Amino acid sequence: MNIVEYPRKILRQKTKKVTNIAHSDFQLFLKEMTEIMLKEDGIGLAATQVNSNLRVTVIKMKDGAEVMINPKICWKALIKKNIVDEGCLSFPGIFGLVKRPFWIIVKYQDKTGQLKKIKAEGLLSTVIQHELDHLKGVLFIDKIFKYTKGEKKAKELMGIASLGER
Ligand code: CO
Repeated sequence: MNIVEYPRKILRQKTKKVTNIAHSDFQLFLKEMTEIMLKEDGIGLAATQVNSNLRVTVIKMKDGAEVMINPKICWKALIKKNIVDEGCLSFPGIFGLVKRPFWIIVKYQDKTGQLKKIKAEGLLSTVIQHELDHLKGVLFIDKIFKYTKGEKKAKELMGIASLGER
C-alpha cells in the first residue's frame, strides 16, 4: 500500500459505501491504512489516498487511530469558524489556510460495524472535514484562501491536472 499524490485521478473520485465490514480482506485493508497513516506521521488519511474508492477514513485521535466507515456529517456549526494551516499527505510541501465550521457532529460505523456519533471541535473537526471531503473527491486546494507554503508547486500541479493527462 502506497500513498498516491495529486494529480492522480483517484483523488477526484467519489467513494462507494462499504457494505461488508466484517470481511477479512476489508479488515486487513483497515489495518494497513492505519499503519501507513501512523508511519507517515499523518493525522488523517482517506481511502482514495491509498488508491481505493471505498468510503473509509482513518483519523488520529487522542487515544489512538479511529477508523470511520461510511461517515457523514449530520450537523455543522453555522456561527463559529476555525482557520487552520492545512497540509495533506497527497500534496507534500503544500500548505495553506482553510476556513471550516468549528463544531461538527459526525456519524459513522467503526471497524466492528457499530454505529457511532461524535461531536468534534477545533483541529479534530477540521481533520474530519478534510478527510470527508476526500471521500467526495474534494481536495483542500479547492478551499485554500491563502497559501503558506508551496503555492507555485500547487499551481503547477493544478495546471497539469487540468490537462487531464493522468
Ligand atoms: Co488530505
